[in-house]
Amino acid sequence: MTPPENTFDDLLTEERTFDPPEEFRAKAHVRDPEQLERAKSDPEGWWAEWARQLDWFKPFHEVLDWQPPRARWFHDGELNVAHNCIDRHLDGPKRNKAALIWEGEPGDTRTYTYWDLHREVSRLANGLRSLGVERGDRVAIYLPMIPEAAFSMLACARIGAIHSVVFGGFSPESLADRIDDADARVLITADGGYRRGNVVPLKRNADEALERTDRVEKVVVVARGWNVSRTTGTRMVPDRDVWYHDLVEDQSADCPAESMNAEDPLFVLYTSGTTGRPKGIVHSTGGYLTQAMATTRWVFDLRDEDVYWCTADVGWITGHTYIVYGPLANGATVVMYEGAPDFPRRNRFWEICEKYGVTVFYTAPTAIRAFMGWGEEWPGRHDLSRLRLLGTVGEPINPEAWMWYREHIGGNRCPIVDTWWQTETGSILITPLPGVTTTRPGTATKPFPGISATLLNEGGEEVDSGYLAITRPWPSMLRGIWGDDERFRETYWSKWDEGTYFAGDGAKRDAQGNFWILGRVDDTLNVAGHRIGTMEVESALVEHPAVAEAAVVGRTDELKGQAIAAFVTLREGRPRSEELVVALKEHVATKIGAIARPADILFTSDLPKTRSGKIMRRLLRDIAEGKALGDTTTLADPAVVERLKERYEQEG
Ligand code: WT7
Repeated sequence: MTPPENTFDDLLTEERTFDPPEEFRAKAHVRDPEQLERAKSDPEGWWAEWARQLDWFKPFHEVLDWQPPRARWFHDGELNVAHNCIDRHLDGPKRNKAALIWEGEPGDTRTYTYWDLHREVSRLANGLRSLGVERGDRVAIYLPMIPEAAFSMLACARIGAIHSVVFGGFSPESLADRIDDADARVLITADGGYRRGNVVPLKRNADEALERTDRVEKVVVVARGWNVSRTTGTRMVPDRDVWYHDLVEDQSADCPAESMNAEDPLFVLYTSGTTGRPKGIVHSTGGYLTQAMATTRWVFDLRDEDVYWCTADVGWITGHTYIVYGPLANGATVVMYEGAPDFPRRNRFWEICEKYGVTVFYTAPTAIRAFMGWGEEWPGRHDLSRLRLLGTVGEPINPEAWMWYREHIGGNRCPIVDTWWQTETGSILITPLPGVTTTRPGTATKPFPGISATLLNEGGEEVDSGYLAITRPWPSMLRGIWGDDERFRETYWSKWDEGTYFAGDGAKRDAQGNFWILGRVDDTLNVAGHRIGTMEVESALVEHPAVAEAAVVGRTDELKGQAIAAFVTLREGRPRSEELVVALKEHVATKIGAIARPADILFTSDLPKTRSGKIMRRLLRDIAEGKALGDTTTLADPAVVERLKERYEQEG
């Protein structure tokens, strides 16, 4: 475990502050700090008030049962997530309000009202039942950003099945591993999806994945558009594969929602950890939905007339909580877009904002840095005057990007919410509340009401620069790692006492109590807002026949935050070559997915190790960053590093 580096020292001297504009504050859900008092004095009672805004089939009586590290929220209550995201809105003015406005990359569009959504989800839910899917069964979802992705998640929720969404950019092998780990019997995929004008052959990938695992009994295939199947050479396996449109065709639109216990799992979502194996993060029904709803409403100040767009992919937690569950639980209008921000031109996002009158926009710092690089003339061509609030998530945002976002997208008028959270936290934990918080470029500011966060050192003492820790349970916290209780305890609850959550991030706190998140302190990387395990990339590399050993570190990247640098020793007799560099990069992309493709590969005859044989990643990071070498006295062969460093400077 490496303590956070002080690379962000200069951040704390950031002097620019922005108070909520009076016009914004006047109408905001939260406009008076007094509204936060209850959350401080009685967090559980306060969360229970939020929970009671949901429809419960059976009301809960106990709010929290906390036996560290196990928390159960509202555990004697029963409800259904799809009912709360859809049916609940059908008896009032939202019945025919747009729930989902979708645009495909080629420009095709579809809009679904809440009533439409009810029909679509119910028919699919009945379709899944007809395939034998029951409460508690796992359903894997491997789809592009199309409405059927949301329908599939909600259909699972409706019948109490547990979904496991796998990002469409993951490789067949990654998909197979996730299917195996979760023991999914049904897979929902599509013949293809559009990305930068190309068709991603998802079904072909899925078929390849299913050659590696025999768990899946039924595959539901969405026809993405006419001709997509032909271009991708989609083949349907008899008795196993069924077209989505055939499956739902004769299904009734009446599908009673299962009454689920608040603690029943809603979904599993895999994220990278410090070993080669991703962790299946398990989320709950009642607590998850409560906090998803609360944070969406308060952080994004969501109102009925808003048009809300979160640009994440449903394959990540942001897509789960802030495209599907949080906004729909609030009865909001959600924009969903399939493709790339620069297709066909670099103004695509702004065109969409203008076309649908987007009012709340939520994206990642990597995207903002890309927009900056493309130039302000692209957003400048569009009327963005309806935007009233901007958000960021996924990685630290540099003040320069924050200021650019404010000026060129937000017209110097929109508050910016820099939201810190994780796959494991389920929803936002540290964030400004746009009507009351004074923001500063680069800080996620303060814990959301009801959340207790602090900074601790190794010994568990409170400090102003150290490890980010959450000191009380929160409703949308992860309930476990699928099939691995020991890893759950060990990873998150063992650093201090069993009731204190170790987030894996380093952070600092300023005199005003703002949290400045510095980045991961474990062996995971954050590349363009995606978490990637160094061990995953290393295992992929050593599976290549030419590779003997590999060590992977992150280095600073101006656009993506971090980029992957791999140090590789080759097997005897394997010559180093440019071709091999290319082949190894491709090999990792094929094994894991394009997001894990290393930016640099450096061959070395030896890796720096401690006497006990542990690879010294800190030194490799210094080399990759081109920094001066740190302390090498514990190295087995200090000369190794010196040589490596010289070579890196020459070639890297
Ligand atoms: C890690 C979680 C939460 C959805 C997207 C990523 C980093 C997240 C911020 C932020 C600085 C951030 C942290 C965290 N991170 N938001 N606002 N400022 N860093 O989810 O893949 O689970 O990754 O992303 O390092 O631990 P994830």
